[in-house]
Amino acid sequence: MSTVNLSNAKPSGLKVDALVVGVTKGPKGVVLAAGADEVDKAFKGRLASTVATLGGTGKKNEVVKVPSFGAVTAPMVVAVGLGSAPEGKDAAYDAETLRRAAGAVSRALAGTAKVGLALPTDTPQSVSAVAEGALLGAYDYQAYRVASKAEQKSPVDAFTLVTSSARDRNVKKAMERAHVIASAVHLARDLVNTPPSDLPPAVFADEAVTAAKAAGLSVEVLDEKALKKGGYGGILGVGQGSSRPPRLVKLTYRSGRGKRHLALIGKGITFDSGGLSLKPPTAMEWMKADMGGAAAVIAAVTAIARLGLDVNVTAWAPMAENMPSGTAQRPSDVLRIYGGKTVEVLNTDAEGRLVLADVIVRASEDKPDLMVDVATLTGAQLVALGSRTAAIMANDDDVRSAVHDAANRSGEQMWPMPLPDELRPSMDSQIADIANMGDKYGGMLVAGLFLRDFVGEGLKWVHLDIAGPAWNDSAAHGYTPKGGTGAAVRTLVLLAQDVADGTF
Ligand code: BES
Ligand code: MN
Ligand code: ZN
Repeated sequence: MSTVNLSNAKPSGLKVDALVVGVTKGPKGVVLAAGADEVDKAFKGRLASTVATLGGTGKKNEVVKVPSFGAVTAPMVVAVGLGSAPEGKDAAYDAETLRRAAGAVSRALAGTAKVGLALPTDTPQSVSAVAEGALLGAYDYQAYRVASKAEQKSPVDAFTLVTSSARDRNVKKAMERAHVIASAVHLARDLVNTPPSDLPPAVFADEAVTAAKAAGLSVEVLDEKALKKGGYGGILGVGQGSSRPPRLVKLTYRSGRGKRHLALIGKGITFDSGGLSLKPPTAMEWMKADMGGAAAVIAAVTAIARLGLDVNVTAWAPMAENMPSGTAQRPSDVLRIYGGKTVEVLNTDAEGRLVLADVIVRASEDKPDLMVDVATLTGAQLVALGSRTAAIMANDDDVRSAVHDAANRSGEQMWPMPLPDELRPSMDSQIADIANMGDKYGGMLVAGLFLRDFVGEGLKWVHLDIAGPAWNDSAAHGYTPKGGTGAAVRTLVLLAQDVADGTF
């Protein structure tokens, strides 16, 4: 991964291949943002007008490259747009604006080894936002390139972030945190981007174990035999159509006895063909990303451990491949979920809720203070909120708000959604305790209500549907690449911090 180092040196003298400054959109055109003054002096006060001449406007995430012709040590100055300047005397740029701008310029400078950042970074918050954005934008996935490898531009290798608070202890801590968070997000992206042929449940479990051990976590993996013995009927039912058997991974981080306990549960369908309720070809295009929830919880718990947060976390990842075959479950089969409740499978493509149900019941036995599941659960999530905004559902208004607040602070787009009781009877089954499908309207909420039925009595539970945000099918933007995005990792880490701090 790339690195960010802090410096309080003058930006004009940095020995880098490109030097980044911020520009904003003023009433009369491009205006330099704080941090650029010293560079502008070296340009004899002409930097803003040069950026304008080259077509720059200062709009958000715009990147304009200006050759320096020796005015500064770096051969090129790069202006990144921050939009309108914040109003008022002490007004600061919001963290997400800085994070996205840093990410956009980081991506635009792929192929450049060393980059200086002279952005408005006078507070610890702004330093960590810029560092995080730069690192998140410095991502690529090259594992499967052979003949085309040489023509790919590598992400920026090293950033030097210029700030007057380079020696501040809080700022140094924030930098460590940015590296930990970015490497966790990169891990989640790598897992999502891995082709499904090479990530069957057993291999996915091995990857989780490797990542977890490196972060000092305890691990436990249930294979198909152990799942059978334990009565995990949901995971087994979904996995039985594949020649590659399912797994349940449990990763444990303990900061100490008596600390609050957070349980994280991530959907890990390594490929979702729909099963016998087969998806049409176009709907299968992203379905290697159907393990994005599991990737997020695995990555988040490694980051939580590395940061040494004062909370106990158990991360669960049920892993299965949903395939059609002679051994696959049939629509109208009845499964026995862990703990005994029965589910009539009316549609084998509603498989995520089946594997999650087992684990929600199992995780409930430990009576965590908060249980959060993360899943690419429904196409209806994309219909409701689009491809970039995840949905937050919960059995408690306060915890739903707490998660929304953590998402806002992390810069992840999420929005609260209801769980209307009147939709629950649509899942009443003719023969079993519940069916895995219900009303065709509000499909995201129906799925959430299904999960709610398995939450242990009196426990607080939140469900994040990240079907859209887990995968970026359009062009890269801000710090978000095409393909796997690592959605929810940052929110989960902040939430763990909140649980540790007792702020909800
Ligand atoms: N993995 C899909 C949901 C999904 C769809 C994720 C599009 C990302 C993008 C899930 O398993 C699924 O197939 N859900 C069905 C449920 C339906 C059969 C009740 C859906 O949303 O169509
Ligand atoms: Mn499905
Ligand atoms: Zn699925």
